[in-house]
Amino acid sequence: MATKTRTAAPATLTLQARQGQHRYEVRVGPEALAPLAALAKGHDALAVVTCLPVSRTPAGRRALAAARQAGRVARVHVLPDGEAGKTLAELEKAASRLLEAGLTRRSLVVAVGGGAVTDAAGFLAATFMRGVAWVAVPTTLLSMVDAALGGKTAVNLPVAKNAVGAFHPPRAVLADPRALRSLPEREVRSGMGEVVKYALLEPGLMARVAALRDGAPDAALIAQCMAEKLRVVEQDPSEQGARKLLNLGHTFGHGVEAAGKFERYTHGEAVAVGLAFAFRLAAQLGRVGPLAVAEAEAAITGAGLPVRVPRALARRAAALMVHDKKRTASGLRWVLPVQRGGSGWTVEWDVAAADGAVAAAVAEISGR
Ligand SMILES: NC(=O)c1ccc[n+]([C@@H]2O[C@H](COP(=O)([O-])OP(=O)(O)OC[C@H]3O[C@@H](n4cnc5c(N)ncnc54)[C@H](O)[C@@H]3O)[C@@H](O)[C@H]2O)c1
Ligand SMILES: [Zn+2]
Repeated sequence: MATKTRTAAPATLTLQARQGQHRYEVRVGPEALAPLAALAKGHDALAVVTCLPVSRTPAGRRALAAARQAGRVARVHVLPDGEAGKTLAELEKAASRLLEAGLTRRSLVVAVGGGAVTDAAGFLAATFMRGVAWVAVPTTLLSMVDAALGGKTAVNLPVAKNAVGAFHPPRAVLADPRALRSLPEREVRSGMGEVVKYALLEPGLMARVAALRDGAPDAALIAQCMAEKLRVVEQDPSEQGARKLLNLGHTFGHGVEAAGKFERYTHGEAVAVGLAFAFRLAAQLGRVGPLAVAEAEAAITGAGLPVRVPRALARRAAALMVHDKKRTASGLRWVLPVQRGGSGWTVEWDVAAADGAVAAAVAEISGR
C-alpha cells in the first residue's frame, strides 16, 4: 500500500478487499467518489440512502451530486438519524419507497452516512428483491475504519442491537476524509477509539496515531486502519477465529456502553476504556508488563479518550459483561495482548482469565 509524506498533495489511495468469493475496491481520498460512474454502469437506476444531518453537509451534497452524474437517481431516501434509522419498520418503509420509485433487482443502492446508514442501507440492499448491489460512502471516522468494511449489515430489534442482519459485502467503499471536517468533535473522537484499537493490534501504527494529537486522521492513516481490518477479515471471512482480534477492548467496552445506557459513553469512548481494561487484565495475568500498559494508556489518553470510569459504573459494566454474546460454555473468553520480545506485544483471542484477575483489573480502571 502506498503511504505519503506529510508534505505531499493529498492523494487518493486504493486498497483491494477480499472476502471469501467477494472482491471489492476501497478508495480513500479526495477523489474517492470518481469510480462511482463506472460502478453505476449496467445498473438501471440508483437509490441514494442517507440521513438528514449528512444530506446537509458538503460531503453529503458532493456524494449526491456524484451519484446524479454517475446514473439515474430514482430515489433519495432519507432515514431517521442514527439508531432510529436502523429498524425493521424503517426497512419496510425504505423498501416500499424504492419499489414505488421503480427500482429493480438491477438497481444500485448508494449508502451515504455513518455506520448507522451503511448498516441499514446495506441490509436494505441485502434484502430488497432478494439482494441488490450497493456502494458504501462512509462519512464518519468510525464508518470509514470499521462499519463500512467487512460486509456486515444489520438493523436493530427493540431488545437487541444488530439482531437482524446479513453478510452482504458492498461493491466498493468510497471514503473522502474531507467529510470529517463537518463531523462533531465527539464523533471524531469516538472513531479514534477504533483507530487506537488498530494501533494496539498493529503497533507499527502507534507513532502515527501519537503524532495526531487532537487532529483527525488523514487519508493515509485511515487507509492503514482499513488495511488492518481488511487483512483480518480476509483471513477469517466468516468470523470463526482471527476476526475476533477486532473485538480487542470490546468485551468490557460493551459492558461500559450498556452500563452508561448507551448515552453516557459513545461506542469509541467505551472501547477506549475497554482497551485500557484489556491491557490491565493482561498485566494481571502476567502476559504483559507495566510498560505495555503505560504505552497503551498513553495512546488512548493522547487521543482524548478515557482510561477510567467511575467505580459504580465499572462494577455495573463488569456485571453486564457476562451477558456478552461472546460468552461461551467455558466462560468469558478474552482478546488480550501478550509480550513478544523486549518491548512489543501481539494480540491473541480466546484467552481465559480467572475471576480474581478480572476483579483486580476492574478495580484498577475504577476512578473515584
Ligand atoms: N457493520 C459493522 O461491521 C459495524 C461496525 C461498527 C459499527 N457499526 C454500527 O455503526 C453505527 C455507528 O456508526 P457511527 O459511529 O458512524 O454513527 P452514526 O452513523 O449514528 O453517525 C453519528 C452522527 O454523525 C452524523 N454524521 C455522519 N456523518 C457526518 C458528517 N460527515 N458531518 C456531520 N455529521 C455527520 C450522523 O448523522 C449522526 O448523527 C452503529 O449502529 C454500529 O452498530 C457497524
Ligand atoms: Zn467497535
